[in-house]
Amino acid sequence: MKPMIRRASCEDLEELLAMQRRSLRSFGEAHYSAALLEAAVAEMGTMDARLILHGTYLVAELDGRIVGSAGWTMRAPSYTRLLRDRLEPLDGTCGMVRGIYVDPAAARQGVARRLLGAVEAELRDVGAEVADLLAALSCAPFYAAAGYARLSDHVLLFGGCLEFPVQRMCRRLRAAAPG
Ligand SMILES: CC(C)(COP(=O)(O)OP(=O)(O)OC[C@H]1O[C@@H](n2cnc3c(N)ncnc32)[C@H](O)[C@@H]1OP(=O)(O)O)[C@@H](O)C(=O)NCCC(=O)NCCS
Repeated sequence: MKPMIRRASCEDLEELLAMQRRSLRSFGEAHYSAALLEAAVAEMGTMDARLILHGTYLVAELDGRIVGSAGWTMRAPSYTRLLRDRLEPLDGTCGMVRGIYVDPAAARQGVARRLLGAVEAELRDVGAEVADLLAALSCAPFYAAAGYARLSDHVLLFGGCLEFPVQRMCRRLRAAAPG
C-alpha cells in the first residue's frame, strides 16, 4: 500500500519522535553500540523541530500512522557543531537532506524512497543543484541505492569522546550547466 506524503505539523511531534527513536535504535544496532545510540538521542536528538515550523519536514502516513519522515534545509544542521573535523561550508546551490527515518515495521516497502523523492523535488523547487547529507552508517546503503556518492567520512563526538561515524554523501539534482 502506498503511504501518503504530507507536511509535518507540530501535533505530529510526539508520534514522530517515538517513531524516529525506534528507527534509530533498531536499524542502528548493527553499526553502533547501544551506549552510542543513546548518546546520539540525548545529544543530537533525532530531528530539528524547527524544520516543522519552516514547513520543510515531511511525514509518510499509512492507515493513520506515521511510518516515515524526512526533510531538508539550505543550512548546515546545528549538530555539525559535534563534528570532530570541520565540514566544508555549503554553497547556495547545495541543499541538505535531513532526518530520514522509517518505522522498522514498514521497512523495505519503498517508504524512504518516496520520502526522498519528495524532498529532492522540493530542493529542486528552491533552486538547489546538489543534495548533500550526513548519513548514519545504517542509512548509507539506502542513499547509495538512490544514486548518492560517498564524499568523505566524519565523526560526531558525543560527551566529548564517544565517536559516532557518519558519511557525507551527495547527489546532483539537475544536470550541470554546460561549461
Ligand atoms: C535507511 C532507511 C531510511 C531505509 O528505509 P526503507 O523505507 O526501508 O527503504 P526503501 O524501502 O525505500 O529502500 C529503497 C532501496 O534502498 C536500498 N536499501 C534500503 N535499506 C537498505 C539496507 N538496510 N541495506 C541495503 N540496502 C538498503 C535497497 O536498494 C532498497 O530497494 P529494495 O528494497 O527494492 O532492495 C531505514 O532503514 C531507516 O530508517 N534507517 C535508520 C534511520 C536513521 O538512523 N536515520 C538517522 C539520520 S541519517
